[in-house]
Amino acid sequence: MADIDGKSLALQMQEQLAREIQSAVAAGMRPPHLVAVLVGDNPASKTYVRNKMLACKRVGMTSKILALPEETTEEELIEHINVLNTDASVDGFIVQLPLPRHINSTKVLVHIAAEKDVDGFHPLNIGRMTLGLPSYTPATPWGITQMLLHYDIPTEGKQCVILGRSNIVGRPLSILLSQNAPYGNATVTVLHSRSRNVQRHCREADILIAAIGKPQFVGADMVKEGAVVIDVGINKIPAPDTPKGYRIVGDVDYESVKDKCAWITPVPGGVGPMTVTGLLYNTWKAYRREVYHSVPVEV
Ligand code: GUN
Repeated sequence: MADIDGKSLALQMQEQLAREIQSAVAAGMRPPHLVAVLVGDNPASKTYVRNKMLACKRVGMTSKILALPEETTEEELIEHINVLNTDASVDGFIVQLPLPRHINSTKVLVHIAAEKDVDGFHPLNIGRMTLGLPSYTPATPWGITQMLLHYDIPTEGKQCVILGRSNIVGRPLSILLSQNAPYGNATVTVLHSRSRNVQRHCREADILIAAIGKPQFVGADMVKEGAVVIDVGINKIPAPDTPKGYRIVGDVDYESVKDKCAWITPVPGGVGPMTVTGLLYNTWKAYRREVYHSVPVEV
């Protein structure tokens, strides 16, 4: 087996983006600007947002965190979104998920102006992506398609099994992999909490993608010999013998699976850095008005 080095590919793609931003700035333009809205004190969300801001800096984008208290109401959050929607200095923004339980994320996300929705979570962008129109592709599914392309991993006619049907990863990824595209033309099965025969489906996968947030859920008994395994999970598990007292693992039991598969994404250093890169690319697209020009829906 071999590792898919998401970290190195991400840095390579970020260097390319940095060069393009540098030329825009050298030509007298302002750099792209991203805002991340962070509600509450979820420690994992804080870390993810910090990493996104660091990546912006690395490529020469400016960025800001709009940190709001846990008690923020749905109405207040929507007011902040409306301000960002009309602020000409903001090219794109994201509302980090999950939101506190008293806020309905679906209700909130529809208020983001589609042309600034660099997460690609707005129904209009999901719809456009589904139809194969120019859109902001959600960052994690985009990152996975880029890794498959870069490593020349064929998807055409392959059996792809996705564990998890989230709106952030599983659902959009299932659409991309089944599209008639260089990273697509696969036969896709989406497994979820009500699926039967999960192990059997997984064992039949040429490409197995785990995105369910269960530490080391996928063991060797669930993986076909020579399969490609993409691990989207980022889970903390206790590790009393380490300085931090915990360790980060994926949804795949890497040690038991690694010798059975052809390719595997490690955690950390696999999908995570590519997700951040996807957000940067969408922000670059927003800055360049690549998806929406002046007309809201242009086909
Ligand atoms: N939470 C987990 N992944 C993501 C993401 O890609 N975007 C946002 N906004 N929240 C997330």
